[in-house]
Amino acid sequence: MEALKWIFPIFLIILVVDGRTQCYKASGQVFCPTDHYKHYGVKVRLMDKDRMSLPWEADDEMGTAYTDEDGNYTVTGCGDDFGFWWNDPDPYIYIDHRCPEPGRSVSIAHRYKTIPIPEPKLVPEEIRVETVRLDISD
Ligand SMILES: *[C@@H]1O[C@H](CO)[C@@H](O)[C@H](O)[C@H]1NC(C)=O
Repeated sequence: MEALKWIFPIFLIILVVDGRTQCYKASGQVFCPTDHYKHYGVKVRLMDKDRMSLPWEADDEMGTAYTDEDGNYTVTGCGDDFGFWWNDPDPYIYIDHRCPEPGRSVSIAHRYKTIPIPEPKLVPEEIRVETVRLDISD
């Protein structure tokens, strides 16, 4: 954890030196009506959709966070592009959870949910992500 104290300042320096690195801070809340413990400790990823717009490039993970006991999370991350305006990072939230489907009480498999970020704002602004329930599939 000690190293993390240095990583964030380094990101900030890169941001100043290289204006093409774009950082986001997004927070939101998830809830699981079918099992009230399954909104806790859920892995939340801040993803960057096809930053190069090339078909062979997979989406990039910019940052991860875990939800607290209320299902709240704040995830931060930076996306770099190659300096072309059409390559601006296109962030969205990707959630990996075990919230059971409606009418069930357990979920054996991991389930996934994508939450769009329609209006991404750069740090220092904070993006408020819509609250979602995890039991319903996309
Ligand atoms: C989670 O977010 C809600 C709504 O913003 C807030 O009322 C609640 O206090 C938060 N819980 C924690 C543990 O921060």
